[in-house]
Amino acid sequence: MVRTAVLASGTGTNLQAILDAAKSAGPFEVVLVLTDVDGCGALARSQAQGVPTEIVTWESCGGDRSLFTLSITRILQAYDVELVALAGFMRILTSEIIEAFPHAVLNTHPALLPAFRGAHAVEQALEYGVRVTGVTIHLIDEEVDHGPIVAQMAVDVLSEDNAASLRARLQEVEHQLFPQVLADWADGLYRVEGRRVIRLPAPGLSS
Ligand code: GRF
Repeated sequence: MVRTAVLASGTGTNLQAILDAAKSAGPFEVVLVLTDVDGCGALARSQAQGVPTEIVTWESCGGDRSLFTLSITRILQAYDVELVALAGFMRILTSEIIEAFPHAVLNTHPALLPAFRGAHAVEQALEYGVRVTGVTIHLIDEEVDHGPIVAQMAVDVLSEDNAASLRARLQEVEHQLFPQVLADWADGLYRVEGRRVIRLPAPGLSS
């Protein structure tokens, strides 16, 4: 079982999907949920399921991004974490976490990167008028929403869509894709070659 931490700031629907997947199938277990927002939905969900939680607020680190990242990294190390899932974690982290967990910090983003990086991807996709957007699961690097892409799934933008309806369909996809990628990662099915992430065939399957 790969020891996995989930970092989340919001309602935690992705966290919930990850917890459900870990419980039913593995091959990863969620050993820690860490949030920067005391009282957020993600915290309540993890407490309800008896998963250990930690809170590191931006304010407690004096708004120092490096100190914030280091505090989080030290906690992850104390829990012997091997895999880190950023599931709606709304703070930018610095390179310390990448160095501590190379090729092991995954983020979900509600757009087809490299389009619409940042916190307003759903609104920007609508404003731009794209007909197709989607979900990207990627490794983090030093730039926001920029690291090597692990998996993507497209979602059609409908004429009647608003941000709420489009976000809801994107989240349905995230709830399937992110746990699946974490499971495949835990199974050792990915190899990183520069910016490219190669998916290896699952053992026992002929190509
Ligand atoms: C997700 O859609 C994620 O892509 C974005 O924030 C959202 C978090 O939602 N970065 P939730 O807290 O998992 O419900």
